[in-house]
Amino acid sequence: MCGIVGYVGKKRVVPVILEGLKRLEYRGYDSAGVAYLENNSLVKYRCEGKLANLEAMMDEAYLSPSHIGIGHTRWATHGAPTEDNAHPHSDSTGKLVIVHNGIIENYYSLREELKAKGHTFSSETDTEVLVHLIESFLEKDLVLAVRQALELVDGSYAIGVFWSEMPDTLVAARNQSPLVLGVHDEIGSFMASDIPALLPYTKRVVFLEDGDLAVITEKGNTVFSIHTGEQVERKETVIEWNAAMAEKAGFRHFMLKEIFEQPQAITNTVSGRINPETGEINIPEINLSGDELAAVKRIFLVACGTSWHAALVAKYWIEKWARVPVEVDIASEFRYRNLLVDENVLTIAISQSGETADTLAGIRLAKELGSKVLTICNVVGSTMTREADGTIYTHAGPEIGVASTKAFTSQLAALFLFALFLAERKNTVDAEKRIELAKALIDIGPTIEKELPVIQEQIASLIESFYDCRDFLFIGRGLNFPIALEGALKLKEISYIHAEGYAAGELKHGPIALIDKEMPILSLVPKDSVYQKVISNVEEIKARQGRIILIGSRGDTQLSTLTDDVIYLPVIAEEMNPILYTIPAQLLSYEIAARRGCDVDQPRNLAKSVTVE
Ligand code: AGP
Repeated sequence: MCGIVGYVGKKRVVPVILEGLKRLEYRGYDSAGVAYLENNSLVKYRCEGKLANLEAMMDEAYLSPSHIGIGHTRWATHGAPTEDNAHPHSDSTGKLVIVHNGIIENYYSLREELKAKGHTFSSETDTEVLVHLIESFLEKDLVLAVRQALELVDGSYAIGVFWSEMPDTLVAARNQSPLVLGVHDEIGSFMASDIPALLPYTKRVVFLEDGDLAVITEKGNTVFSIHTGEQVERKETVIEWNAAMAEKAGFRHFMLKEIFEQPQAITNTVSGRINPETGEINIPEINLSGDELAAVKRIFLVACGTSWHAALVAKYWIEKWARVPVEVDIASEFRYRNLLVDENVLTIAISQSGETADTLAGIRLAKELGSKVLTICNVVGSTMTREADGTIYTHAGPEIGVASTKAFTSQLAALFLFALFLAERKNTVDAEKRIELAKALIDIGPTIEKELPVIQEQIASLIESFYDCRDFLFIGRGLNFPIALEGALKLKEISYIHAEGYAAGELKHGPIALIDKEMPILSLVPKDSVYQKVISNVEEIKARQGRIILIGSRGDTQLSTLTDDVIYLPVIAEEMNPILYTIPAQLLSYEIAARRGCDVDQPRNLAKSVTVE
């Protein structure tokens, strides 16, 4: 999704804006632009494609003495990714300028009304309609004009606006699309779509809520309600991340760095929440009482993409250990279903960003229907964490690569913690088993730390054989079926190879027709309770000359009789296999995509956080 950066303060604005936009590139975009005020006139640069194209035209602008400006990276919704459609967009006078992330759903009718009043448009965007709408109300008070315009808007927005007649003021506003303000007493004030853009300058942030409008000057910010115009209080949060955490630190891609950060991410997510002696779980921010949890009769897990795969794994754990029925829903389906939800239902939203539009809509609907809502989230202060009744934070640190890796395995760790936490309150697991399971969770981070280089070495020998495949199948059973789905998603989203994940038992119900000597099939086959079943499926593939890759248990000599391409992992507690078996799937996808020369961190058409429907 789009990236927005705004600044007003003592520093030269152009370098601040461009550096901030670079730190938001992971959000995905296909055009960009910057606008700033110089000698009381608006200066604007826009380009198609990447920020490098914008920088190439802005050599002189870097030295501009201007101290106020806004910038944007655009992920095209209305209109192709062209320079004309790139933000910032201006009004008829050329004195008012806007950047926007979101969708103005009634832009067409608004544009027709504005055209009837004589406004003309130079782009296909909904955003340009919004800046002309603000102009149509603008007399002397920019804040009032923005409020009046937004009252007519249906849809989602995070906007930054400034007007050359108010040369020291930025106006920001949000509805459903994320927007965070940065605070620094000496150098000035910031606005951005996400925290990484602010980290080089400040860790002091203010998260805007839906319906908020902020007036931003060098001295600070004041927040108002768009609807009432009343001032509202928004607390300041100090972010624990630092700028270095959002940089590559010598790795070729953020994704590879984040794959290797997983041991620490998982350990950070678990530590302080388990008593290793008793196996007792402690999650204070869950904010749900023991009685509330004991009363839970059914659980909905709601998520999108990789986070939905984490939900599929969690279903096995929660039903097995806490004995509570679990329904798993893709959020874009959940929000439009006729839900049977009541006060005995707990809805858990799983989201790395805490801003995914469909998942956010899902928890809002669940709350309306009387459900308590918990979110598993990686971003402190994100919208979902502020709207849920309780949160279990993953402590994965900023995840920059569009393809989720450390956030996913940290979500699994957090969900396993929750399953044990609920089992304790439901009294469905005895102390001995609880200690055993807790130890397995504590051990998985160090195990991955040790195994990562071994896995990377085993995978290296596969890349030349498989990087130019057109299709790929991933299969697994039980706890590992969701990991087959996750492996397929990783491969398809960063290498653009058509990959599908299937329950191993489903092969005979259709997909086996795809098997021939061209088709690679990666099978997850740990020595677990369904091992023999999966081995039978692999035999069926072998009988049809499928190109077999196996990820299985070290010491399992049968595997090498089925294929030469085996990745061996240690035998660990079966419950933890989903976390461990994800690692080779991630690394294989990464190495294949890198070998294909793909833009691994910013795959085409994708965004890190899907804040529009
Ligand atoms: C994961 O690799 C994808 N980038 C995507 O499926 C992602 O998991 C999905 O958009 C959900 O994002 P969230 O966890 O931030 O809600």
